[in-house]
Amino acid sequence: MFVSSLLLGGLFYHHPLVAVPLIALVALLYWLVKHNYKFWEIDGVPYPKPSLLTGNLGPSLTLKKHISELASDWYNAYPDKPFVGYFKIFTPAIMVKDPVLVKNILSRDFDCFANNDFLLDVRQDPLLSHDPFLVTGERWKRSRSLLTPSFTGAKIKQLFPVMESVADAFVTFIGRHVAQELEAKEIAARFTTQNVVACTFSIDGDCFGEQESEFRRMGRRVFETSPMATVKTMMAVFLPTVAKYIPVPFLLKDVDEWIRSLVANLIIQRSASEKTVQEDLLQSFLKNREKSNATQTEITAHALTIFLEGFETSSVVLGFALYRLAKSPEVQQNLYNEVKKRIDANGGQLDFDALQQLEYLDWVMLETLRMHPPAATMHKVCTKKYIMRKGFRDEQGHDMSIYVREGTPILIPVLAIHMDPKYYPEPHQFDPERFSPARKVTHEGATFLPFGEGPRMCLGMRFAQAQVKLAMVKLILNYRVTVGPNDKPFAIDSRSFVYQARDGLRIVFERR
Ligand code: HEM
Repeated sequence: MFVSSLLLGGLFYHHPLVAVPLIALVALLYWLVKHNYKFWEIDGVPYPKPSLLTGNLGPSLTLKKHISELASDWYNAYPDKPFVGYFKIFTPAIMVKDPVLVKNILSRDFDCFANNDFLLDVRQDPLLSHDPFLVTGERWKRSRSLLTPSFTGAKIKQLFPVMESVADAFVTFIGRHVAQELEAKEIAARFTTQNVVACTFSIDGDCFGEQESEFRRMGRRVFETSPMATVKTMMAVFLPTVAKYIPVPFLLKDVDEWIRSLVANLIIQRSASEKTVQEDLLQSFLKNREKSNATQTEITAHALTIFLEGFETSSVVLGFALYRLAKSPEVQQNLYNEVKKRIDANGGQLDFDALQQLEYLDWVMLETLRMHPPAATMHKVCTKKYIMRKGFRDEQGHDMSIYVREGTPILIPVLAIHMDPKYYPEPHQFDPERFSPARKVTHEGATFLPFGEGPRMCLGMRFAQAQVKLAMVKLILNYRVTVGPNDKPFAIDSRSFVYQARDGLRIVFERR
């Protein structure tokens, strides 16, 4: 402060003609920012106090809090409000809390909230620009419709034997590491990567070896970005209009080249081969190529989408499920009893239909998804002027409905809703039976959102559920899982974009 006063004094003394307009400009900017922060006050919407340069995102930008925790703080600070305003740096944004409003946004009024809040330049990222999650408009419709046939129940059933052999290899891998402390998410990612690669390309991804396989390495790389792309992402938060013009791709060049050459080689091999090719996901894209008029870039992009979306989120869920089972021996025993009984009754076999009938397993997975949703917040943008439902009144009885302007970012606090005792009593208790028909309570609107809802709902939900459940069944039949000696109390990793545990999830397997 003292130094800046001296500098200012010096500037005034030596260059008064520069100093006066400079100070006027700073004062004007200060006034503009302060005035901008009155936005929600003028509209009568409750909002947490923003700070001058970072709006309400400071703790998240400085990596002190994960965005889902920050959203939970706002959620809990305004217990009876249907929505809360906040500032995404300088941009006024809305966090929607009321489950009916959430459902309307995701389903009924999808037309007004069709886009995810993500800045992707389709010219810079030709492959990512076919991932339905990242694109909008006609492009989204086409990608979604081309990918949908690959994720039907019948298709997953057809892939089931492949998944099962990967799960068996996973059991063997764990067998080599019994009585050792393992990190649950890391071993889960080995399984999901191996499985996604097998189901997409019919390749052995070598993820259960002692060395890190190429597919695991690329699995990490695919979520990394260049320093310039990081700057662009930051700019997209601070100055979205400027960020749009920064010509940098998000996908790293080596990942782009790797997936293109992988798919191109497989296509050449398959067209040269006399043998009938097993119908993996790549083969279904190739089979439909003429009907859908898809280019090789599109087919490569779809393979990338499945790789990108297919292993990471499922590994989060499988990792947390194993960890929760390790922490709850009673739940683990109930699960073992159910699985054992079912398999014995099925002549020692586990087929796709038998997996669907394991209801306790289903509750365990749902409860894991409730407590640890990998997409712990969802981010949408208002694409058409919208009136947020009438009928809410503040303490003075004033109608709280508001106009949502086009371009307004919308945050859906999935984790906070899942941890709200109004919908889930004793939310910190891992209690799978809360999903049993005897105890399940339905609430109006959307209160369970691990896979989203509406036209943009997760495309790979069935695939994800099948791979997570299958791995759980196979492991629990063969091993008992306990918490490792270096286990630390669970905390969300605030430094990671992905929802994961700060200190890992330490578990140990023992043979049954
Ligand atoms: C447990 C694992 C998974 C979870 C929790 C999950 C969750 C989600 C969520 C929350 C969305 C956004 C939904 C919305 O905006 O309303 C989404 C979208 C998507 N997911 Fe998943 N996902 C999982 C696994 C998968 C898998 C295995 C695949 C594919 C192999 C996949 C492919 C996609 C795609 C393509 C989208 C974009 C859909 C669109 O915007 O039209 N997901 N997922």
